[in-house]
Amino acid sequence: MTVLASCLSEDGFNKYRAYEYGPLATHLTPFKYHTASEQNALGRKMFEATRRSPPSYAGMGDFWVRKYEDFEAAFLDPIHRSSKMASIDTPLDSNKILLITGGASGIGLALAKQASDLGAKVLVADLRSTPEFESWAQGKSNVLYVQSDVSHWPDFLKLFAACERKWNDVPDAYGICAGVFEPPFSNFWQDPEQDKGYAEVDINVSHPIKLTRLAIKMSLKHGKRASVCIIASIAGLGGSIAAPLYCATKHAIVGFVKSMTASEPFTGVKITTICPGLVATPLFTDDKKEQYSFHENKALKPSDVATGMLDLIQKKEFGCGTVYEISMAGTRVIPEWNVAAPSAEGTGQNEAEMAAGMEALVGPIREKLRSEMKGSKL
Ligand SMILES: NC(=O)c1ccc[n+]([C@@H]2O[C@H](COP(=O)([O-])OP(=O)(O)OC[C@H]3O[C@@H](n4cnc5c(N)ncnc54)[C@H](O)[C@@H]3O)[C@@H](O)[C@H]2O)c1
Repeated sequence: MTVLASCLSEDGFNKYRAYEYGPLATHLTPFKYHTASEQNALGRKMFEATRRSPPSYAGMGDFWVRKYEDFEAAFLDPIHRSSKMASIDTPLDSNKILLITGGASGIGLALAKQASDLGAKVLVADLRSTPEFESWAQGKSNVLYVQSDVSHWPDFLKLFAACERKWNDVPDAYGICAGVFEPPFSNFWQDPEQDKGYAEVDINVSHPIKLTRLAIKMSLKHGKRASVCIIASIAGLGGSIAAPLYCATKHAIVGFVKSMTASEPFTGVKITTICPGLVATPLFTDDKKEQYSFHENKALKPSDVATGMLDLIQKKEFGCGTVYEISMAGTRVIPEWNVAAPSAEGTGQNEAEMAAGMEALVGPIREKLRSEMKGSKL
C-alpha cells in the first residue's frame, strides 16, 4: 500500500509515519521524504498523466498490511478519528486559499481585505463587482474575482476550476457570505414569486449548504483539511414579524451547522457559523433603513464581523459546529440548549428599541394586507 503524508519537516514526517501507520503495518519499507522540488516534479508528472492536480503531501512510503479491510477499519475507529481529525489551527498565511462568496461588498469584502493583509490568496465570488472592491483589488496578484451566481450551482464548478487554474489547488478555507435580506424579488409579505420557489432560500440556504458539501468533496479528493464559516445572523436565533422568510433561512443555517458538529473527524472539514446583530452594509437599502429604524450607532462595522469570522476559521478553540454571536454587547459562543436572549441594541430583541420602532416595522405589512382585503371584512 502506498501512503502519502503531509508534514512540515523530514523529522515530523518520520514521527507522523510511525505514529499514524506503524501499528497497522506488518512490514514497513523505508519511507521517502520528498523535498519541495521533488514533490513539484512528481506533481507535474502526475498532472500530465492524469490532468488531475496532485494532493499536497510531503513524502510517500510503501508498506504491507495484513488485510486491506483491517487498514480501512482502523480509520473508522472513533478514537482514531477524534484524535487524528480534531480541529486544528488554520492560519491564513500565503500558502492558504480563502474562497469568499459575496466578497465584493459589506462583510465579505471586509473579510477579503483582512485575509489578504494576512497574506492569504483570496478568491472572490460575487454576482457583481463594486467600485470599492475594484479599487481595493486593483494590482493585487493574490486576489482573484470570479463573477458568479451562487444560486446557479454550475457556477460553483466555475469557481473551483478558476482556483485550480490560478493556484493549482483547491481552497483551504471558505467564508460563505453572499446573502439577501427580503429583497423586492423574494419577500414573504410582498409575495412576488409564484412559480419556482423562494430565491431567498436558494441564496441564503441552498448555496451555503451545497458549497459546504462541495468543500468536503474537494478536500477529501485533494487530501487536505479545510475550514468553512457561514454567515447566519441573530435572525437565526430569534424571529421578526417583518422578515419571517429571512429569519427562517438563517435558522436553517444554524440548524445545519449544529447538525455538522460531529462531522469533522469523518471529513477533515471544520464548519462554523457567525450570527451578527445589525451591521452597517449596503444590505440595508434606504427603505430597509426606514422600516428597521437603522442607526449607525447601533450597528457593527463589517470589519468587526470579518475579524470574528477569521477567528472562527483559523482558531482550533472554535470547534466544528460552533455557533458564534457578535453584537454591540460583544461575542459569545451560543450553547446548544437554553440560549439566553441577547440584550444589546441592534439585535432585534431589545424591548425599548422594539417598542419605539414597531410602527415603522409593521407599516409596509399592514399596507400590503389591506390591499389584499379588497373591501372584505376580517
Ligand atoms: N448587514 C447586516 O445587518 C447583517 C446582519 C446579520 C447577517 N448578515 C448577513 O451577512 C451576509 C453578508 O451581507 P452584507 O451585510 O455584507 O450585505 P451586502 O449586500 O453588502 O453583501 C452581500 C453580497 O452578496 C452578494 N450576492 C447576493 N446574491 C448573490 C448571488 N445570487 N450570487 C452571488 N453573490 C450574491 C451581493 O452581490 C453582495 O455583494 C449576508 O448573508 C447577510 O444575511 C448581515
